[in-house]
Amino acid sequence: MSTNDTSAYNDFHLQFIAGEWQKGKDDSINTNTNPYNGDTLVEIQQATKDQLNEAYDAATQAQEAWAAQMPAERSAVLYKVVNILDQRQEEIVDWLIKESGSTRIKAMVEFGATRAITLEAATFPNRVHGEIRPSNTPGKENFIYREPIGIVAVISPWNFPLHLTQRSIAPALALGNAVVLKPASDTPVTGGLLLAKVFEEAGLPKGLLNVVVGSGSEIGDAIVEHKAPSLVSFTGSTSVGKHIGELANGGEYIKQVALELGGNSPFVVLKDADIEQAVKAAAFGKFLHQGQICIAINRVIVEDEIYDDFVERFLAHVKTLNVGDPNKPDTAVGPIINEKQLKSLKDKIDQAQEEGAKMALSGEIKGQVVPPHVFTEVTREMDLSCNEVFGPLVGIIRAKDEEDALSIANDSMYGLSSAVFTADMQKGLRFARGIRAGMTHINDISVNDESNTPFGGEKNSGIGRFNGEWVLEEFTRTHWISMQNEPRQYPF
Ligand code: TAP
Repeated sequence: MSTNDTSAYNDFHLQFIAGEWQKGKDDSINTNTNPYNGDTLVEIQQATKDQLNEAYDAATQAQEAWAAQMPAERSAVLYKVVNILDQRQEEIVDWLIKESGSTRIKAMVEFGATRAITLEAATFPNRVHGEIRPSNTPGKENFIYREPIGIVAVISPWNFPLHLTQRSIAPALALGNAVVLKPASDTPVTGGLLLAKVFEEAGLPKGLLNVVVGSGSEIGDAIVEHKAPSLVSFTGSTSVGKHIGELANGGEYIKQVALELGGNSPFVVLKDADIEQAVKAAAFGKFLHQGQICIAINRVIVEDEIYDDFVERFLAHVKTLNVGDPNKPDTAVGPIINEKQLKSLKDKIDQAQEEGAKMALSGEIKGQVVPPHVFTEVTREMDLSCNEVFGPLVGIIRAKDEEDALSIANDSMYGLSSAVFTADMQKGLRFARGIRAGMTHINDISVNDESNTPFGGEKNSGIGRFNGEWVLEEFTRTHWISMQNEPRQYPF
């Protein structure tokens, strides 16, 4: 297919293995549905372990030649991918809306982030570099080469499927690696097959990107334990991430892991903050994609002096948000991804009330659409504070003062993103540096991702960093080569 043919992609019922679109050979079928209206989008016969092995074989065969290509040739493929994304923006945004329940606003945000990391990755082939280090051995020179890591296994989630997949596969491929990808079962198209179509159209040689659609519980372990991958790049829940870490380091073959897991982002509003701005930020940072984002605001922590004022204005603002059809341009809150997640949110609503939180705002749950639920007088011990919500429910916690706010913010087993609002930038910086997290944003939301800044977490939020030089290091290996230029004197 030429880059000028923009007829919509099809054949999403097939797997993409060894550069060929082929039927899955497992008995099970993935019925891919629209979470807003239940429409069946595509039925995919799932892949067997033999097909997974075939994908790894193809990746292994293709990788060395790809790594040996000129950097400019690898860059050119990535730049073509950017062009194709641009040409097919509407088609891609449409898939994000119908498959992942993205609102149009969120789909556009996700499209932009996907485009940005692809553009960043296109520069990697020429940016990767080695070093020469001094030696304390007479006549020796030390060279440190940076090489492709080889085969990268990517397991991606359903919430930002296009972006969270692309931010692993685009750098991996740009840096001379080959990829075997398993998208989430809720989003096999936007999390994998759609990107395979784009890379194929961009002329990526066969075998370098393989998309294997199957259930994590069925083929997940086999993906991680296979001999071929040197790195497993996983984005998803902390529980599955821990399991993958154990498999990758406790099995027959040791491999590196990059784990981007859950979060519990605090959003702190100090008493000197611009309350109106903080209210708008809190609503967007909490309810974008129905709160199903690892860096979404999970806890709103407000200093006592302005607590009541903040709550009153926040409730008034949240009541104005449009809820429902994700395809409408002004919808703020669309559907939850699946019934399992819906059930977990209903349980959380019950538990919050049982624990004594005051439900200050609620609404009728229709199908998989949950309107914003706001709880006040939430304490740090309650479930809403301790655990990742992953939905449009939020608890507002009262902090005695700045010190108390920092203590509450840090009272979590997670450490992904965070935010603080204050009129005093020096105070904001001091506060931000006191938060134990990978990312903190002053006078902005916790939901930020830039392709040239390090994205990742601490504690149970994971290991490793995406974007810029950080992912460039993650997806390459260093090789120390020394050269002894004159005979060395050995002691015996
Ligand atoms: P997970 O179960 O962690 O799913 C993420 C990915 O891991 C999917 O591709 C999934 O495949 C796969 N997977 C599941 N079990 C696996 C196994 N044993 N071995 C290898 N891969 C496996 O997340 P979820 O169920 O979709 O969501 C549950 C919770 O995860 C959410 O409530 C939220 O807290 C968290 N979450 C976090 C993020 C981010 S960005 N940090 C993203 C999504 C979800 P299948 O889809 O086939 O099961």
